[in-house]
Amino acid sequence: MEEKRVLLRNRGKIDPENAREYIAAGGYEGLKRALNMNGEEIIKELEHAGLRGRGGAGFPTYRKLQFAYGAPGDVKYIVCNADEGEPGTNKDRILLSSDPCSIFEGMAIAGKAVNAHVGFIYLRAEYSYLVPILEAALKTSREANMLGENIQGSGFDFDIKLRSGAGAYVCGEETALFESIEGKRGEPRFRPPFPGIKGLFGKPTVLNNVETLANISVIFQNGWEWFRTLGTENSPGTKLFTVCGNVKRRGVFEFPMGINLKDLIYEVCGGMEEGHELLAVQTGGASGAIINASQIDMTLDIDQVSNSGGRLGCGTILVMDDRNCIIDIVRNNLDFFRGESCGKCTPCREGGTRLYQLITKISQGKGSVKDIDTIQDLAETMRLTALCGLGHSTAVPVLSSIQNFYSCYLRHIDKDYCPVCSEEGE
Ligand SMILES: Cc1cc2nc3c(=O)[nH]c(=O)nc-3n(C[C@H](O)[C@H](O)[C@H](O)COP(=O)(O)O)c2cc1C
Ligand code: SF4
Repeated sequence: MEEKRVLLRNRGKIDPENAREYIAAGGYEGLKRALNMNGEEIIKELEHAGLRGRGGAGFPTYRKLQFAYGAPGDVKYIVCNADEGEPGTNKDRILLSSDPCSIFEGMAIAGKAVNAHVGFIYLRAEYSYLVPILEAALKTSREANMLGENIQGSGFDFDIKLRSGAGAYVCGEETALFESIEGKRGEPRFRPPFPGIKGLFGKPTVLNNVETLANISVIFQNGWEWFRTLGTENSPGTKLFTVCGNVKRRGVFEFPMGINLKDLIYEVCGGMEEGHELLAVQTGGASGAIINASQIDMTLDIDQVSNSGGRLGCGTILVMDDRNCIIDIVRNNLDFFRGESCGKCTPCREGGTRLYQLITKISQGKGSVKDIDTIQDLAETMRLTALCGLGHSTAVPVLSSIQNFYSCYLRHIDKDYCPVCSEEGE
């Protein structure tokens, strides 16, 4: 199966630090078009395109711009979420390192739409080695007058600043990210007010994922009708999938939304490693659902994955074979979430640790069926009452694993035995 490289079209073909090469490849044409449009027209183009966020929730991009557009105030901000903290996810890094100007272009178009003049890129701490590339691309974009004052003589000013995170997963959550840029401890805020009304520094703010912003550029370069020829009705465009785990070929692959999960695993990634069978797949990163091998005939678009109880999220696909134990995988997920909980709300601070203790008990062959019930109650309570997505998503791998791998839980409980993670419990 051939990749459809739209967002990755320039990867390895242009010097990412040199805006002139991006321009020679057709880059910044979308911004030039948008400079001749008013805010409402730009937002309409995105509405027709049907672009939805690629950072996790799949929220319609035009609506975020609409909120900020309609919000009172002279100062507004555009923020690019380049925190990419979801375990196993690498797609934003590929865009940032190979085609940063496409992200700047999307930010400038969003800025023109809502009349914002400053954008921030919030970069994951571990991506600090990308700072020189981004700084050079910003400099050459300014020299080409695609950023800075009076862009292309239009009278519109827009520039971008870089800010680095300090390594906390929760700072990928939009309001914690604002706190972090403001120099405070990165904890999520209570909502409302929503970012479109009161975001960064208390001003109306549009925050989008790196991949979403790169999509804005191609929509304005090629038009919404072209964009709609890719992907599915409710999830137009392409998607970057990060496939990791026990497949023969791992990496970041670009396909139109709607590719079948089974084809992605067996045709694109070459299937399972020699002598091993597929056990499970986790879609959407560590905060996604864990499904079993019989469920992989699934269309990968935002709504269809949700309808089957999972989430496409940022498009990370973790493939596990028969050398893995589901209880061990879930325990590992929970260890991550309890460690990254910021502690601001009780359901997540206490619930995450308690879930980890219970699953550890089961993995050691000391659990009971009653423990599974307690885990379900606790996970459901977190899903319903935690303050932010971190607490909500802690529940997803736990609940889906109980639903799809109940026999694995029972094996650890009844037989005190797991053929994979231990011989007789641990
Ligand atoms: C704990 C947590 C971590 C997150 N990390 C990221 C991240 O690293 N990158 C990202 O784009 N979105 C992340 N998100 C989602 C953002 O809050 C936000 O929904 C997203 O960046 C919006 O962009 P989009 O509309 O373009 O998808 C995270 C959410 C939560 C709850
Ligand atoms: S859900 Fe967790 S990470 Fe989010 S605010 Fe509550 S304690 Fe912090």
